Amino acid sequence: MKGGDFHDKPYDGGTLTKLNIFELYVQAWIPVFLSRPEAPFQELHIFDFFAGPGQDTHKVPGSPVRILQQLQRSLNQGLVSWGKVRKIVHFFDFNKEKINHLRTKITKERLSVDDVELDIRDIDFESALKEYDHVLSNSRTAKMLIIDQCGVDAVSDDIFKKLICYPRTDFIFFLSSNTLHRFREHPAIKQKIPMPDDSYHIHRAAFQYYKNLIPSDMEVYLGPFSIKKDTGNIYGLIFGSRHPLGIHKFLEVAWKNDQIAGEANFDVDRENIKEDELLLDLGVMVPKKISVFEEALKEAFKQKLFSHEMDVAKFCIESGVTCKHAENVIKDLKKEGVFQCNFRVPNVRNHKNPRPIKYI
Ligand SMILES: C[S@@+](CC[C@H](N)C(=O)[O-])C[C@H]1O[C@@H](n2cnc3c(N)ncnc32)[C@H](O)[C@@H]1O
Repeated sequence: MKGGDFHDKPYDGGTLTKLNIFELYVQAWIPVFLSRPEAPFQELHIFDFFAGPGQDTHKVPGSPVRILQQLQRSLNQGLVSWGKVRKIVHFFDFNKEKINHLRTKITKERLSVDDVELDIRDIDFESALKEYDHVLSNSRTAKMLIIDQCGVDAVSDDIFKKLICYPRTDFIFFLSSNTLHRFREHPAIKQKIPMPDDSYHIHRAAFQYYKNLIPSDMEVYLGPFSIKKDTGNIYGLIFGSRHPLGIHKFLEVAWKNDQIAGEANFDVDRENIKEDELLLDLGVMVPKKISVFEEALKEAFKQKLFSHEMDVAKFCIESGVTCKHAENVIKDLKKEGVFQCNFRVPNVRNHKNPRPIKYI
């Protein structure tokens, strides 16, 4: 790929798409592993399991092209450990034609990146997971998994449980319409939701469902993210990591963008939300979302639910916001004398030794 041939910013301020999100995620992820002189891993793998042909019918670049663009960007930036770490990108799709198209596109448009190995194959998701189990289960390699399923229900309960067990693995998956349909039809959800077609509730239920699949003795950070399409439909992504920094980085980058935070979105005038439903709200990117989050955070502090900064950080992650979003509430409640602590903003880098919260 030639140096200037890529979009430096994955998001141009228009409607935020699923592809921007994947790209932001890759952009945030790479430097975590390559920007320090002592690289934490000798090998990085990016798996795009539902890669597609490299573009849609309107020739909009797809996830493989965006991943390569972000790798090229990292190469151009001269990240200090770039040359020391082996980097392998896997583009998989079960459709042979699409894979052939992708291969040709990468060659023709000279999209490959120096020093990055490409593994492009027609293979289905489940077989790929089996075949690459030795890589996915290897705690000495860092992995990112992008699961852009569309119309298929690839992340079954068993697959989800596998994903959360892989060490050093961050993943992001798209809640397909089939998956959401499954939740829509669920009797418990039907009972609870007055408007069964309301994607807001359906997404929340889906997120909660996956969260409940995590064994209680397991540390997994799961974060939701929802996006409004041009059509007005809302779709959801769930990202997960065994490490709080993985998710935190992603949220930070995503929220840096004013357009995302400022997008007038679907819950602006929503009136039928009960207080107790707010805690696990999906990460809706609207200013109102911040005030809803702040109210929930205040309430949680008042109920003394947090004992240290990582509890607060986890609450932020699960609400789809950054730790910085907790700053105002922490400041106000400290002033009101509700608790004392030695931090203004929780810092996930302290996850092994979090600073305590002392209630007064
Ligand atoms: C939404 S498209 C992917 C789009 C792509 N990520 C992009 O950005 O352009 C979903 C892709 O998944 C592929 N697919 C569907 N079921 C699959 C499976 N079980 N295993 C692997 N690929 C599958 C389809 O051929 C299709 O190309």
